Amino acid sequence: MENTGSDITALQEENQQLKEKAASLKLTVKTLRRNFQGIVQLLTETISLDNRFLGGHMKRTAEMTKAFCEFLKLPKDIVYVNYYAALLHDIGLVGSNSDIIEKTIDNLGESDRKKFIEHPVSGFEIINSIYSLKRTAVIIRSHHENYDGTGFPDKLVGGEIPKESRIIHIINDYDMNRFKYSLTPNEACSKMSLKSGSLYDPDLYNKFESFITHFEKNNKGSSHNIEPKSLEPGMYLDQDIILSNGLLLIPSGVILDKVMIGKIQSFSSTLLGQGVIRVIY
Ligand SMILES: [Fe+2]
Repeated sequence: MENTGSDITALQEENQQLKEKAASLKLTVKTLRRNFQGIVQLLTETISLDNRFLGGHMKRTAEMTKAFCEFLKLPKDIVYVNYYAALLHDIGLVGSNSDIIEKTIDNLGESDRKKFIEHPVSGFEIINSIYSLKRTAVIIRSHHENYDGTGFPDKLVGGEIPKESRIIHIINDYDMNRFKYSLTPNEACSKMSLKSGSLYDPDLYNKFESFITHFEKNNKGSSHNIEPKSLEPGMYLDQDIILSNGLLLIPSGVILDKVMIGKIQSFSSTLLGQGVIRVIY
């Protein structure tokens, strides 16, 4: 049976309504995502105020996790979830005394050691209370699990550990070795490669070594002091960007993108220092 003219008009109207609904839904998702990003950003800025090293570590870990996930060619939605999990992975340490963050676990007293061991579960509980972040909470809970089952809190083994947590574990340790223990990239990799298969997923760790070689090679240029207006995407930040009120805007060790450059430029009149930024390119 052929469609009549009025059937076709009704179908066209229905089609138009569906298109409008889809557009409105897309806008709602975009707004929700933007609100979520704003809240997480606020959270990380607050963490930076509480402890600048911890805030910097979480931001750098997030940026490097994102770059590593892209190197692994993981789907965009996985990269997105993993970026936010990395950004919030140590939220369970917020409010801890600085010893817990600055000392190695072997040098902590009994009660600080207990608090450190508990931080993945504390982080899980904070984030798990937000319905849309249930997956992020699970990833956070397992970021100190070791591949051989000797980690904490659940002593998971191998593939029982979420892949996202195995990735964050590697990036977390690399950042600590670079910025807490001041090791060079080669020293950090030599130390970490001994733990491939015990602490780290050996397959992921092999891929990480290829990634980091490429990542650090791109940042081996020389250091320059330049004005905020001359910054360009791809430059490697060689200093913390700190506002005059003490807030850590962007930590050292990240590769600048357009958004970060926009932030630095809009705050350029309130930056600590001489008005120039040290970058490597
Ligand atoms: Fe942690």
